[in-house]
Amino acid sequence: MNDKMLAGKVALITGGGSGIGRAIALAFTEQHALSVVLDQNVTAAEHVVEEIRQRGGEALAIQADVSSSAQMLSSFETIRKHSGQLDILVNSAGMYIYKNAVTLEESEWDECLNIDLKGTWLCCKYGLPLLMEAGGGSIIVIASTHAERAQAQAFPYGVAKGGLLSLTRSLAVDFGQNGIRVNSIAPGLIMTPLTMDYFAQRPHASVDELIALQPLPVRIFPEDVASAAVFLATDMARCVTGTTLYVDGGRTISSGIHHRDSNP
Ligand SMILES: NC(=O)c1ccc[n+]([C@@H]2O[C@H](COP(=O)([O-])OP(=O)(O)OC[C@H]3O[C@@H](n4cnc5c(N)ncnc54)[C@H](O)[C@@H]3O)[C@@H](O)[C@H]2O)c1
Repeated sequence: MNDKMLAGKVALITGGGSGIGRAIALAFTEQHALSVVLDQNVTAAEHVVEEIRQRGGEALAIQADVSSSAQMLSSFETIRKHSGQLDILVNSAGMYIYKNAVTLEESEWDECLNIDLKGTWLCCKYGLPLLMEAGGGSIIVIASTHAERAQAQAFPYGVAKGGLLSLTRSLAVDFGQNGIRVNSIAPGLIMTPLTMDYFAQRPHASVDELIALQPLPVRIFPEDVASAAVFLATDMARCVTGTTLYVDGGRTISSGIHHRDSNP
């Protein structure tokens, strides 16, 4: 594999200021892309841009809330003025709300669905014209294993992530003829600030117990998700669209009882 697979490409990464988005921005830098790091937390976005510049890469920070139509429209105008092109769109901005369908407030439903589902649509709505102008490109949606397997007390998050897999398929069908590939990545348990916050609020929950549910008993890091994103962003995946790549140590395909019977 050469190390310049994204030379001359411009990538937008929402939620690029932290966790998985940050790792993807840094991995794209390794492949010589120009990364636009969009985050509502501008300090975090600027910090990642600084990290990229220190590594000799090119980057731009944009502060925006993905659930705001006006802010996303203006973000793409900024990208057009700054770079004149866009080739890769990664939707990583997201948040959790852990409640069930009864305990969830309507305002919390709106917040979660607006960021996790509508935010991705808005990003695609305003980003697709730029990708079409570039003659094609790659959209990567960061979904979750929650899209496939329901987790207790995680109602709105699972609904939003399930919707993202459907969004992925619809966009793949509608824009394939424009040379645009659209794929999801479904991460399992990834060690990021978001996850650490979850475990901080639940002292009874154990990272090791959850890792033991994976056929591959490994800790999965943001860089592992970033490797999948590099694959989907490059021509290595030129015939791949409308699909979901699970980066979950096999947890989604397992019944969960593999760990009781060890190999001889
Ligand atoms: N960490 C995991 O285990 C895991 C597993 C599956 C899926 N995911 C998904 O991966 C994505 C990234 O998660 P992470 O773990 O890196 O989280 P993170 O909290 O480390 O990073 C999320 C980033 O998104 C930004 N953000 C949040 N809301 C925003 C908004 N409205 N507009 C713009 N930016 C916003 C935050 O400021 C933050 O920088 C999320 O979509 C999450 O659902 C994470």
